[in-house]
Amino acid sequence: MKARDRLRIAVQKSGRLSEPAFKLLERCGLSFERGSDRLFCFGDGEPVDLLLVRDDDIPALLAQGVCDLGIVGRNKLAEYACAVDAPPRELRALGFGGCRLSIAVPREMQYRNVRQLAGLRIATSHPGLLACWLRDREISAEVVTLGGSVEIAPRLGTADAICDLVQSGATLAANRLREVETVLESTAVLASSPFATDGARGELLALLMARVDSATHAHVARLLMLRSARDSLDSILSLLPSASRTSVLDVAGQPGQVMLQAWCAGELGWRKLEEIKRAGARELFVLPVEKALA
Ligand code: PRP
Ligand code: ZN
Repeated sequence: MKARDRLRIAVQKSGRLSEPAFKLLERCGLSFERGSDRLFCFGDGEPVDLLLVRDDDIPALLAQGVCDLGIVGRNKLAEYACAVDAPPRELRALGFGGCRLSIAVPREMQYRNVRQLAGLRIATSHPGLLACWLRDREISAEVVTLGGSVEIAPRLGTADAICDLVQSGATLAANRLREVETVLESTAVLASSPFATDGARGELLALLMARVDSATHAHVARLLMLRSARDSLDSILSLLPSASRTSVLDVAGQPGQVMLQAWCAGELGWRKLEEIKRAGARELFVLPVEKALA
């Protein structure tokens, strides 16, 4: 088989993670030719193509090496990992698509503790994770595997409880179910094939990872620039616990004066700036960070 020279990224075609995933790829400088019914979208600028698939299919596409990267819920990845020897690797949590895989019981059930799950039939589309969680707690319950519509199983009488994803809780509420245990905290992640990606594709992958890091972190960071006496630097920096990548430059023609440039995680509010000014800083500038390469 001829080696591929273009990278392939798998993304959920339509669902909760789709839009934020497309936005992230766009912030990474990737764009694709997209048609309404296309599953394969050719990359316009960079040699990176997009595969639009069901989220459940992404872990296998990575494990088989059909795709190099995928944006998928940690729950799907972890469930797939229960069953195979060489699962895809989770590279980064992406900061969106937060939800949890939880056990829920009918609202009228008097639930006190996890021992009450013993002997129950629990419906789920995550049988591997649920079985593992039950085993760890030495609870013997029947895992009923369903492809979807898990939440109506108790009403249909095919299960006594469920184990499903919960985000807002609206689905549980609509089905008169109550969340009682968390099996897994999930979030959208960037995952990769377990095979080494080398050559040109490997280099491209490394570049993309740096862009992903910038795209997921840069917008919550601020660049602080200021001028001060060198003697005041320590007290100024002590006011900036989240500062990193700091550079201190001499100011030409003004001995004892320095310029400080610091990368600060999160907001820098007015009070903080006023405090820094009182500590001896002048000419303070706070700049949003759009892109960053370490
Ligand atoms: C999940 C889950 C519930 C719903 C919960 O399905 O199976 O149906 O979301 O969300 P809520 O707490 O905000 O109501 P999802 O839409 O991810 O579809 P899928 O499981 O079929 O992929
Ligand atoms: Zn799905």
